[in-house]
Amino acid sequence: MKKRLVIILFFVIIFITFIVVWNFSYQKGLEEAYMPVIETPAGNFMPTESGVFKRSNVAVDYLNMPVDENHQRTLEAYYASRAFPGAPPSIPHPVAKERSLGGNTCLQCHQNGGFVEKYSAYAPITPHPEMVNCRQCHVTKNTNETFKEFTFSKKQPPKVGEGQNSALLGSPPVMPHQLQMRENCLSCHAGPSTPKLIRVSHPERVNCRQCHVPKTNEQVQVDINKFLRQFNSSSNE
Ligand code: HEC
Ligand code: HEC
Ligand code: HEC
Ligand code: HEC
Repeated sequence: MKKRLVIILFFVIIFITFIVVWNFSYQKGLEEAYMPVIETPAGNFMPTESGVFKRSNVAVDYLNMPVDENHQRTLEAYYASRAFPGAPPSIPHPVAKERSLGGNTCLQCHQNGGFVEKYSAYAPITPHPEMVNCRQCHVTKNTNETFKEFTFSKKQPPKVGEGQNSALLGSPPVMPHQLQMRENCLSCHAGPSTPKLIRVSHPERVNCRQCHVPKTNEQVQVDINKFLRQFNSSSNE
């Protein structure tokens, strides 16, 4: 009788221990990873900075990928489908299901890119696979005409290339663009669909923003004579 009680007690203890341990690990799993948010006068930065790591698992593949000379995209072709720099590009190919919003239909080519025989081009990788209603923002180009004449002129894209955005020869160029919707650097800067001029030579460096900072100062040409006139007239008063 005593022996049986001990055995039952033993199993009861094991069972309770199991419940406690399981419950503890279950609760731990529900906790969100803690990410301290740094508040600055210009906004909160931490959440978007994680975008920089999004494709770093394939960075070494990009480094070792041979360049396909026959199917390189130029920056002119890149800008041609955009109403202004940073605008959502129009879809340059037919869309299979006219009434679908996109999602997986589009992501099968645009999630990871790759050569598409029928369009004879590499599919550009989307920096935002999580925004699944693709056609909310990306439209097919149905005509080159406009309904009405207008005077809208396209804003010129920032200059890029050797020395355009670097303080010194060989120093890391500043990002001439904003970071909104551009957190995921490798999606645009690495791989065969990237325009030749902006393809990064060092995709494996992972934390791009460690060295590349946003361009925050638009340099304004100072007219020194105008400044002196203003200064003199205000000090004469
Ligand atoms: C069969 C693969 C395939 C599918 C499916 C596909 N695309 Fe594409 N897409 C491509 C290729 C290849 C290009 C590049 C075409 C070129 O450069 O001429 C491209 C280009 C684009 C571009 C222009 C990108 C740029 O940087 O100029 C957009 C936008 C786009 N596709 C959106 C979509 C959307 C939205 C869908 C879903 C409705 C979709 N695509 C479905 C292969 C595909
Ligand atoms: C909320 C609007 C919005 C949605 C939804 C959206 N996009 Fe975009 N997309 C943009 C904008 C804006 C850009 C241009 C980003 C830039 O140049 O800074 C862009 C750029 C792109 C590019 C070109 C990247 C490059 O090389 O510059 C591709 C490819 C693309 N989107 C595909 C997709 C696909 C596929 C989906 C659906 C899974 C999608 N987009 C959903 C707004 C959107
Ligand atoms: C939506 C696509 C896209 C994303 C995402 C993106 N860029 Fe760019 N980047 C461009 C384009 C296009 C240019 C050329 C200038 C322009 O049109 O803004 C450029 C230019 C640059 C340049 C200047 C290169 C030179 O030779 O002067 C640097 C540096 C740069 N980007 C760094 C980054 C970093 C770092 C990130 C990630 C935080 C990033 N970019 C994310 C598209 C992108
Ligand atoms: C350790 C610092 C460092 C890191 C990290 C870094 N870069 Fe660079 N980057 C540089 C320097 C320095 C140059 C200028 C190279 C030159 O002039 O030869 C440069 C140049 C560039 C250019 C201009 C084209 C080129 O390759 O010369 C682009 C685009 C660029 N970087 C994007 C990126 C992206 C995207 C990442 C993240 C994967 C990144 N960089 C990470 C230091 C860095």
